[in-house]
Parts: sequence; C-alpha cells; structure tokens
Amino acid sequence: MKKQLLVCILIFSFSCIAYTVHAQKFQNMAPVPPMGWNSWNRFGCNVNEKMLKETADMLVETGMRDAGYIYLVIDDCWHGERDSLGFIREHPDLFPSGMKHLADYIHARGLKFGIYSSAGFKTCAGRPASRGREFQDAMVYARWDVDYLKYDWCGTRGLSAYGAYMTMRDALYQAGRPVVFSLCEWGSNKPWLWGAEMGHLWRTTGDISAIFDGLEDHGTYKTLGVLQILDQQDTLRTYAGPDGWNDPDMLQVGNGMTVAEDRSHFTMWCMLAAPLMAGNDLRSMSPETIEILMNREAIAIDQDLMGIQGFPFKKDGDLHTWLKPLSQGKWAVCFLNRGTRDIPLTIDWRDFMVKDELSEQQLDVANIVYSIRDIWAKENLGTTGNNNLTMLLPGHDVFCVVLSPVK
Ligand code: GLA
Repeated sequence: MKKQLLVCILIFSFSCIAYTVHAQKFQNMAPVPPMGWNSWNRFGCNVNEKMLKETADMLVETGMRDAGYIYLVIDDCWHGERDSLGFIREHPDLFPSGMKHLADYIHARGLKFGIYSSAGFKTCAGRPASRGREFQDAMVYARWDVDYLKYDWCGTRGLSAYGAYMTMRDALYQAGRPVVFSLCEWGSNKPWLWGAEMGHLWRTTGDISAIFDGLEDHGTYKTLGVLQILDQQDTLRTYAGPDGWNDPDMLQVGNGMTVAEDRSHFTMWCMLAAPLMAGNDLRSMSPETIEILMNREAIAIDQDLMGIQGFPFKKDGDLHTWLKPLSQGKWAVCFLNRGTRDIPLTIDWRDFMVKDELSEQQLDVANIVYSIRDIWAKENLGTTGNNNLTMLLPGHDVFCVVLSPVK
C-alpha cells in the first residue's frame, strides 16, 4: 500500500514538473518593445529571397539595426506546400536557396529572423497555416533558426483564442528554440487580458492603413487610420509592460502619409511603448523617412526600461496632450494636432502637475525644475522654471519634448 502511494506521489510530482516545464512561454524575450521590419504593410504577398536579402542589407547600411531594428520578419505568403509527411516548406520559386539559407544570411548581419503563420487551417492570404500542425511547424521553425513568430487569427471560426495561442506557445517551447511570440488576434478576444501568458506582444486592433485619419474599405473588411487605432489604446495601458506589450500594429512610416503625419504616427507609437516594426521599402527611403525612423530620442521614449505605456492627459478639441513617465524621473510630453488646421499652442508648465498611479511617478513642476528637450528639432528649450512656450502647431503634426529633472 505504502509502495503504491509512493508511486502515485512520484507520478504526480513528475507530471507537475512536466507540466511546469511544458506550460510556459520563453521568458525575458522582450524586456522592451521589439523593434524590426515586417514585409506586410509595403509588400503584401510580394515577398521573395532577393528583396528580403536587400532589406537585411539596408537594415545594416542605414544604421537601423544599430538603432534597434533587429527583427526582420517575413509576413504572409512565403509558404509552399507541405511535404509528404506534412512538414511545411518555403515556396520554391520565391525562396530558391531555401529558408535556412535566408535565415543564415539575416543572422550573419547581426539581425534576427521572424516568420508568420496563423491559427486556422489557412493564413489570411490563403496559404497553409498551422491548425493541427502546430508542433510540426514549430519544429520546422526551430530547424530554420527562427527567432520570432507572428501568429495570425484568420480562419479560426469556433476556436478558442486562449486555447489556440496556448497550443502554439507550447509547441514553440517544446521545439526548444527561444522565440518572440507575437499574437496577431486583432483584439477580438481581449488578448491584453491573457496574452502575457502566451507571448510577448498582442495586437489590440484590426489592421493599420497608411492613412492618418479615417478607414479604408476593402469590401469584406476595413483597415484603420493612425488616429482610429490610437483611440483604441487609452484603456489598455495597465496591461502592457516588460515581456508583454500592447501592439497597435506595424508602422506605416514612409508608405504614403505626409511627413508630419509620419512623424506624429511614429511619436505616438513611441508614447504607447508599441513594438516598432517598420513596414516600408528600405531600399528607397526619403531622407525624411530615415530621419523619422532613426530618431534616437523618440526611440528612447519607446524603449525606456521602465516599460510604462503613455496616456492622454488632456483632450482639448483637436489638441490632445499625451504623457509618458520615463526612468530617472523623466517625462515625455507630446502635443498632437489631430485636425488639419494649425493650432496656436501655449504651454504653461504649471498645468503639468500629475501623479501617475500606474508608475507611481509624479510630474511635479511646482517643486522640481525640469530641462526641456524638443526631440524633433533636437534643441534644448530651457527649463520649466523659466520658460512657458508658445508656437503654432501645424495640422496632423506633433510637438514632443522630454522633461528631465535638473539636479
Ligand atoms: C492579417 C494581419 C496582417 C497581415 C495579414 C497577412 O490581416 O492582421 O498584419 O499579417 O493578415 O495576410
């Protein structure tokens, strides 16, 4: 009897250990929001080895890699057929040297390699997806040295999002190669409530368009402008933090908006502590696009180690003021003109007395003097002690400063 009990206890303990080892995501993969490039926004299904290699080269040549854009992610449409045993293969015409060769090329340039699949039987563009093949696909990704998986939600009618993403999480874990797991579930099942258990970032909305304000109608679905996405982020900040980020979708900088709109889009994504996945053609960037994507002072707001998502502090017609607490008592303060007309802006720093309950950080201009740094003009603008500011803020543009306590 005693022996049977011992055996039962042993089996129970082993299953507990097996369960705990099994049931987790890879930890500490994204202490700050992931940065990189993804093919979808600009190239859609037109992905191929040559373009992706050229993009890898450009990530290095432009200095983007060194500014933090590390992940090169191939989105939908890289797939070929499954082989006779069901293992997924790359499309032979698009990737003639094979996916492992491309992965090696990317890794040799100090970058990391990402790929895409979906939880249904088919991806959103109708390519073979992972349902029922999760463990097999994860094995293939590990063989290809994949570092990042974006996992979509098309064709999943009747599936539980929680269950489906957990299955892929476990499959990746079992395959043994640490992977950033990007949940692309469009916010349909409130992934901010459970996403951190599964992965490192989760989409909060439908797809982004390269428009600043409005919706783009694609017949069966609509894509969203920058402002339409921004307006869905207000209530989500408590869920974001190191290793689990709200993802308001990839960047459209350089894809057709005006320079002011691109600047505002990029700034607000930084204020949201959003993953920064560039989505433009890096081989033909304008100097303005490069300047926006590579603004290290904006990137530093996004990548701040405290990992606190910003919040709207004041909404006054078209003028919205956003704040983001940063480490060392600093604050990012951004004024966004959502309308098309210029707005005369008068900033009286005495209005900025704020206690943020999430970070427990205080912006206390009455007792602390802050230096003011304009992150786009790259100019120091004196201090909050002696300097109120007046300016004209053009339509769809942003004025953004970092306030640092003066010692
Ligand atoms: C969905 C995703 C997009 C992109 C496409 C690919 O729409 O939300 O980001 O991955 O699928 O088909």
